[in-house]
Order: sequence, then C-alpha cells, then structure tokens
Amino acid sequence: MGIEKDLIAKKIEEIYGDVIRKRKPVREPGIAVKTLEKEYKLIVDERLVTIVFAAFMNGRPVLFEGPPGTGKTEIGEALLELWAGRNPFVLPCSENYDEYKVIGDFHPLMAMKEGFNEKSFIPRPLLAALILDTGVLVDEIRRSSEEFQNMLLDIIDKRRIIVPELKRVFRARGVGFQIILTSNPEDIAQNELSDAFLRRTTRIKFDYPTKDVEMKIIRMRSNTSPHLSSNTIDLMLEAIEKLRKLGLSHKPGTAEAVAWSNMSQSIAKLRGSTVVLIEDVVEAAMSILAKRSEDEEIIMDVIKEVFGIEIS
Ligand SMILES: Nc1ncnc2c1ncn2[C@@H]1O[C@H](COP(=O)(O)OP(=O)(O)OP(=O)(O)O)[C@@H](O)[C@H]1O
Ligand SMILES: [Mg+2]
Repeated sequence: MGIEKDLIAKKIEEIYGDVIRKRKPVREPGIAVKTLEKEYKLIVDERLVTIVFAAFMNGRPVLFEGPPGTGKTEIGEALLELWAGRNPFVLPCSENYDEYKVIGDFHPLMAMKEGFNEKSFIPRPLLAALILDTGVLVDEIRRSSEEFQNMLLDIIDKRRIIVPELKRVFRARGVGFQIILTSNPEDIAQNELSDAFLRRTTRIKFDYPTKDVEMKIIRMRSNTSPHLSSNTIDLMLEAIEKLRKLGLSHKPGTAEAVAWSNMSQSIAKLRGSTVVLIEDVVEAAMSILAKRSEDEEIIMDVIKEVFGIEIS
C-alpha cells in the first residue's frame, strides 16, 4: 500500500504535520556539539553525543538518568531532532499510560457506527513518530507501569507497531525513529526499572556540570542587560554548590541556576536598574530555590552566609 493511499498515514500527516519542523540532520558528534551550543544554547559533552549516536546506529534506546534540572529532557529532544532532522514527539509518562494513549484509539461514536476500522482510528504520537520517521522522548519513564515499558521495548526492538484491531503492522521507514527515555531515580513515588528494561537500553548518567560550564550556560542564557557581573554569578554558583551538598528535598539543578539569574535580571529591570544588585539576587533566591517549605530555612542560611547579608 503506497503512502498516498494509506488512510492512517494521511491522518497522521493531517493531525501532526503542522507540529513537525524539518531541519538538516546532523549525525556527526563534533558538528552536533557545535550546533547544540549555537542553535539550542546547550552545552553537551562530545562523548555523550557519540554514545547516543552510536546507540541510534544500533537501534538501541538511550536512558538519560540523573538529578532534576540537569538538561535530560532538553538535551534529549535536541539530539533526537538533530539525528532525525525533524523535531521529536514528547511523551510525558504517567501511571495510566497505555497503548491507546500512545499508539492510537478509536473514536467511540464513529466506531459504533462504522466499526473498529481505519476510519474510526485516531493515531497517537508513538505511531505518528514511526510513520513520520522521527524520534520520541519518553519523559520520566519511571512514572509508567512495567507493562507500558515492556510494550515500548518490544516496539523499539522490532521497529514496528502492531494494531490488532486494524489487522495491520506498521514498520519504521528510516533511521529517524529513535527513543530517548529520561528518569530521575531520586524522585519520590516512582517505579523501579526492570532488569530486562535496563539490559536493553543504553544508560547515560547525568550529573551537575562543573562551575565553569555552569557559568558559561548562565552567560549563554541570560540577557546582556541589566548587567550581571561574573562576581555575582560566582556567588550564586557557590550557594548552589553548597545547597547540592545539603539534604534538601529539592536540590537546585542547572535549570534553577539559569532561572535564578534570569529572575534576578528581571527584578533589577523592573526596578529601573542597569545593574543586577545583590539584593535583586537575594530577592529572587527564595522563589526559585525553595520548592518545598521544609527547605526554606536551610536555603536562607546558605544565602545569608554566601552573600554576607541579613534577610528580613
Ligand atoms: N547542559 C546544559 N546546557 C544548557 N542549559 C542547560 C544544561 N543543563 C541544564 N540546562 C538548563 O536547564 C534547563 C533544562 O532542564 P531540563 O528540564 O531539560 O532538565 P531535566 O534534567 O529534564 O530536569 P527534570 O528531571 O526536572 O525533568 C534548560 O532550559 C537550561 O536552562
Ligand atoms: Mg525532564
């Protein structure tokens, strides 16, 4: 059956065509690192990119595991996009995720009238990604059930999706259909990943970047004005480093470091200042860093100590 005549492929084109952007694929790690920095404002180690691309060459799913705010989701999306030359689909997992939510389901009224066939079938993102030959970022895989994880692995292994109601097998058309999964093992209320699952994935551990890299990321992602001095960023990073070592329920990641500097700049701007003052930074600190009330006191103490100020 040709693509033009295939009703499902046509539906996918109609539903998802608009949200799929195309770009030139980049499959060479050195060029990818440069593109990630220039176009995506992401600093990524070349070794990481090499492992991800090598896994893709072998059709192996990649698992990004690490603490919150270390770029797992954003780097995952960007790498899938570079590899496929199209932006990926993102599946944010939850306990009740199943094949009907990610592969497809049937319009109830239409199914009653027309039966369970291609007319009443509504394709969902995983099937769309396979047909459109693009990647899938499965976010927070530990939040899904073991059943869902096994279904996913079977699809990745065989590069095909079976829809029994349609008596159809959909096969991947190119190498763009790849999967990156993210997981944060420290997150509460999460399922363990099974041995079978871990055996079949390529695991990459994420961690907080070095101070120099984090400084570069903040510079890259902040505005030029109001001016944020390197000295101030240094103090912010020192506070963040201290907080990561303490027993906070929510440790600040690079995402928080960036959000903190942006928020400080906005506060300074709203005050009509051309320079970010320590008081702006301190003001922004609590709202960005304290995600849970039990962390407030520890954060306050660290801010006081690092910035040498009193907080009212
Ligand atoms: N290597 C990096 N280069 C540039 N920005 C980064 C990097 N790592 C983290 N960031 C910052 O963090 C944000 C992305 O964090 P992201 O949500 O991808 O993290 P995550 O690891 O998926 O977190 P979570 O576990 O909370 O989902 C970016 O918008 C950016 O501000
Ligand atoms: Mg994430």
